[in-house]
Amino acid sequence: MKLQSLLFAAATVFAASAFAQNPIIIKFSHVVATDTPKGKGAQKFKELAEAATKGRVKVEIYPNSQLYKDKEELEALQLGSVQMLAPSLSKFGPLGVKEFEVYDLPYILPSKAALERVNDGPVGKALLKKLEAKGIVGLAFWDNGFKEMTANKPLRTPADFKGTKMRIQSSKVLDAQMRALGANPQVLAFSEVYQAMQTGVVDGSENTPSNIYTQKVHEVQKHLTVSDHGYIGYAVIVNKKFWDALPADVRTALDGAMKESTKYANDIAQKENDAALEAIKKSGKTEVYTLTAQEKAAWRAAMQPVQKTMEERIGKELIAAFNKEAAAAEGK
Ligand code: LMR
Repeated sequence: MKLQSLLFAAATVFAASAFAQNPIIIKFSHVVATDTPKGKGAQKFKELAEAATKGRVKVEIYPNSQLYKDKEELEALQLGSVQMLAPSLSKFGPLGVKEFEVYDLPYILPSKAALERVNDGPVGKALLKKLEAKGIVGLAFWDNGFKEMTANKPLRTPADFKGTKMRIQSSKVLDAQMRALGANPQVLAFSEVYQAMQTGVVDGSENTPSNIYTQKVHEVQKHLTVSDHGYIGYAVIVNKKFWDALPADVRTALDGAMKESTKYANDIAQKENDAALEAIKKSGKTEVYTLTAQEKAAWRAAMQPVQKTMEERIGKELIAAFNKEAAAAEGK
């Protein structure tokens, strides 16, 4: 036997014995509440995965940044301290996968139909593939929804943003977007947002209604503007070494569970966000304002230059591919 074959055989035996003790544990860490599209998707995956593997796999979910905050969770995955995550697509820059920030370009995806074309087609597949060089396998895209702006003052025109301290996720595109509006962006972990607003460290932020409601952001922000100017979605990812070493039948069962829970998570996302927006309105704790078509056009015009300035970071072809899918989804 050649040395290479011997090493391969030894690695296979090691992998098999590493998983010989039952059950195989998948620690799935995330930063949001359980009562969100991602929280519910994770729970669905756990149920389906455990049933499909007949108990050979146990999925332990750690929500609410209980184990790790934004940046740490990615490091923990690479180190193998957790096996599965679903970080926002806006958080892959610090890992060195800048291309994911294409999703942050303002108004680049005008509808869920456009999003589906991107994620389910070759563009989405190629993006997930980029993670492999980082020791990560991208299994699926999970949806959250379109973002709204919140602040302690009304935000109706781009001029209203001037000098406002806005919390952003760790994305250079979001930084450029806020600067294009005249705001001062500040990167903060998701778990720090509520307190930063309460203590005035930041004046406002952007997020989906579901995240705003479950983090009680509406209780520490006087105004919410329904702007749908951007999108939050997730890549469900696993540690590559762990994934590749799983017994093949277990991996196949987990793949099936992931497909089904992806469909579930993406089916409920819009409804969850609609319900959250209604609940925010009902709470009476923040004033909700929806931009008119004319106001939206002014926001779009103010943020449009970001597509050009971020070309070098993200790649001209990738931005063009997104715009092409968006146009096709709109029937243009
Ligand atoms: C945020 O940090 O605002 C979001 O990405 C949190 C999340 O995972 O939805």
